[in-house]
Amino acid sequence: MTWKYAKCLVTGGASFIGSHLVESLLEKGVQVRVADDLSSGKLANLSSVLSEIEFMKGDLKHIDVAHAATRGVDAVFHLAANHGGRGYIATHPADCAGNMALDNIVFGCAAKNDVEHIIFASSACVYPTDIQAEKRLLVEDMVDFSRRGGAFADEAYGWAKLMGELSLQAYHRQYGLKAAAARISTAYGPRENESHALMALIAKVFVRQSPFEIWGDGEQTRGFTYVQDVVDGLVLAAEHIEDGTAVNVGTDEFIRLNRVAGEIFTAMNWRPPAEILYRADKPLGVRHRALDGTFARRTTGWVPQVSLTEGIRRTVAWYMAHHDAADVAARLDNLLMERRYFPESG
Ligand SMILES: NC(=O)c1ccc[n+]([C@@H]2O[C@H](COP(=O)([O-])OP(=O)(O)OC[C@H]3O[C@@H](n4cnc5c(N)ncnc54)[C@H](O)[C@@H]3O)[C@@H](O)[C@H]2O)c1
Repeated sequence: MTWKYAKCLVTGGASFIGSHLVESLLEKGVQVRVADDLSSGKLANLSSVLSEIEFMKGDLKHIDVAHAATRGVDAVFHLAANHGGRGYIATHPADCAGNMALDNIVFGCAAKNDVEHIIFASSACVYPTDIQAEKRLLVEDMVDFSRRGGAFADEAYGWAKLMGELSLQAYHRQYGLKAAAARISTAYGPRENESHALMALIAKVFVRQSPFEIWGDGEQTRGFTYVQDVVDGLVLAAEHIEDGTAVNVGTDEFIRLNRVAGEIFTAMNWRPPAEILYRADKPLGVRHRALDGTFARRTTGWVPQVSLTEGIRRTVAWYMAHHDAADVAARLDNLLMERRYFPESG
């Protein structure tokens, strides 16, 4: 059986989520092209499939690069972005704002090249931050472009993703491009970098950090979503959404950071010997975040499959097999704040 599209471009395909998406598309028999400037992604993420894909290295903010990348493909999964964990996006607003230019150039070139469908990796950061002080599931229509005051996104990164959605809808209306926006929330899994909370905790356990630090009081929550579930959400969005509508791709469970830390301690068979140091002075983001899955279930059939315990088990196994404790310890402060990967250690 052939999949909906024979040839796809994955922008940012050397990334954490992108590389897993590439593998899934190849399994469906899709011909895959990856375009990535390797600013945070890395070729090692694609090592098992490199001989099966077409890889183009280049900055998609350059029109000639974006034009060449989008030529001759049926669909574009647009994941390329300047992005990182909370510490990164809080301290790199200008870099994240550049995503508005990147998105528009990719969409414009895709339209010129008669690409049939664009699937955009949007984010839960598009949701109004003020309503996330409480545990309230985020529903797609809580962002409303047609209502005055209908948006209040999270940092420059969130506003840029929101403008990406708006722009994509405009391309759909004006040029008839099929489009979908997947609002991804707090993905985790193998190949993620340590600027994201769950990976940061794994890295700190790996180097036996003492005193062990958790940002905030650890009672903040996120809908941690395993990367294969995220990839399935992107693929299902491609299959079922063509009118530019945004769909949530994130679990509806409010998972406390302290619970995540506890599960990681168990999975890595270690506990901090002294009291945990809670760092209220670090960038924290909203208090609570989890996504309502009703619309995703109804329109695409998406339901996350991987439990937190199983996802952490897989992620820890990968991390331990691919990292060196002395190397991580030497770079830890930098790794927690920056989106770049440290050099290969395995
Ligand atoms: N990880 C999450 O929890 C999460 C949550 C919401 C949304 N997203 C979105 O999903 C996508 C993938 O994120 P990720 O976490 O896998 O890793 P990531 O953010 O590091 O991936 C971005 C990829 O884009 C590439 N890139 C950046 N700028 C580029 C440019 N100008 N030209 C070409 N390539 C460029 C990078 O090298 C990298 O491979 C991003 O769009 C991100 O905003 C991720």
